[in-house]
Amino acid sequence: MLIKSPSASDCKESDVTPEALYLSRRAVLGATFAGFAASALPRWSLADEVSQYAGVDPGAAPAWLKTRLTATRWQAVTVKDEAITPYKDATHYNNFYEFGTDKGDPALNAGSLKTEPWSVVIDGEVGKPGRYALEDFIKPYQLEERIYRLRCVEAWSMVIPWIGFPISELLKQVEPTSSAKYIRFETLQDPQSMPGQRSGFALIDWPYVEGLRLDEAMNPLAILAVGMYGRELPNQNGAPLRLVVPWKYGFKSVKSIVRISLVSEQPKTTWQSIAANEYGFYANVNPTVDHPRWTQAHERRLPGSLFSPNIRQTEMFNGYGEQVASLYTGMDLRKNY
Ligand code: MTE
Repeated sequence: MLIKSPSASDCKESDVTPEALYLSRRAVLGATFAGFAASALPRWSLADEVSQYAGVDPGAAPAWLKTRLTATRWQAVTVKDEAITPYKDATHYNNFYEFGTDKGDPALNAGSLKTEPWSVVIDGEVGKPGRYALEDFIKPYQLEERIYRLRCVEAWSMVIPWIGFPISELLKQVEPTSSAKYIRFETLQDPQSMPGQRSGFALIDWPYVEGLRLDEAMNPLAILAVGMYGRELPNQNGAPLRLVVPWKYGFKSVKSIVRISLVSEQPKTTWQSIAANEYGFYANVNPTVDHPRWTQAHERRLPGSLFSPNIRQTEMFNGYGEQVASLYTGMDLRKNY
C-alpha cells in the first residue's frame, strides 16, 4: 500500500424480530451500539428506521434497495466478544485510491461517484453472461447481515456489520463452465468522478482489479456487499457493490464493482502488479508471514489513540481458519502469500 509511515464465528441464522418487540427494544438500545460485543447484539428489524446503529448518517438508498435492506436476515454471522467499530471510523478511515491516498480522502471526495443507475457485467466462462441493472442483479438473493473482522495489510483492523449475499449464490445463477477456475472483479473506471484516476502520480494502472480462486469464491464467508450498518454502502466504502472476503487482507475486497468475469487463468491483480514481492494473489491474513517492511504478527484495532493504540494479536486467516483452512491444504503459505 502507499503507506507514508508504516505503523504499527459463529454462524447463526436469525429471523426478523416482530415490529412491536423491535420498537420496544429501540427505546432501550438508545445511544451506543458501538460499545456492544457483536454477539451481544439483540435481533431487530429495520422497519422504517434508517439504522439500528448509533451515529449512522441517514442513507439515501433508492426505494427498491430500501425494501431489500428491510428484509435483511440480521446477524446471520457475527463475531464473539468484539466491539463493532463505530460507523464514523469505518467511514472516515478508508482506502479507496480512486479518491485519493490519505485515509480521509475517500470520505471527502467520493460524493462525486454516481451510483445510480449502476450495472454489472458478467462475462467470460459462464453459461449466462450479460449486463444487469443492479436492481435485477441482486433480485434473486436473500440479503444477510455479516458482522466480520476486516484486517488491512497495513496492520489496522475493524469489525464491520456488512449486508450482502454469498458469491456462491451468484455463481449458481450464472453457471460457470468447466474452464472457469478463477473469478475476476473490476472497479469502475471513471476519471471524471474519480480524482485519483486523473492524478499523474497514481501508481495504479486503472481499473482496480482483484480475483479469487473459484473454490475460494464458493466459500460461504465470501460475499458481495450492498450495505453496512443497516443502510446502503456509503460511497467511500465501495458503493453500490463490493467484495468482502474476511479471511484475506482488505485489499482483496474490491470496491464499486462493474464487471465480474469467470476466467481460466489467475487474473493479474492490482497490488500484485505494483509490488509482487509485497502483495500476493492469495493475501490470506497470516501472522507468521511478515510484510517485507513491517510485522503482520499484530494489528491496531480501530479506533485507538497514540496513548492507547489498542494492539491485538493477529489471528491466522483473521480468525476464520475453521471455515477456510482446508482451501489451502498442501500449499506453502510462505510462498503463496
Ligand atoms: N477497492 C478499490 N477499487 N480501490 C481501493 O483503493 N482499497 C482496498 C479495498 N478495496 C481499494 C479497494 C484496501 S487496501 C482496503 S484495506 C479496503 O478496500 C478498505 O475498505 P474500507 O475503506 O471500506 O475499510
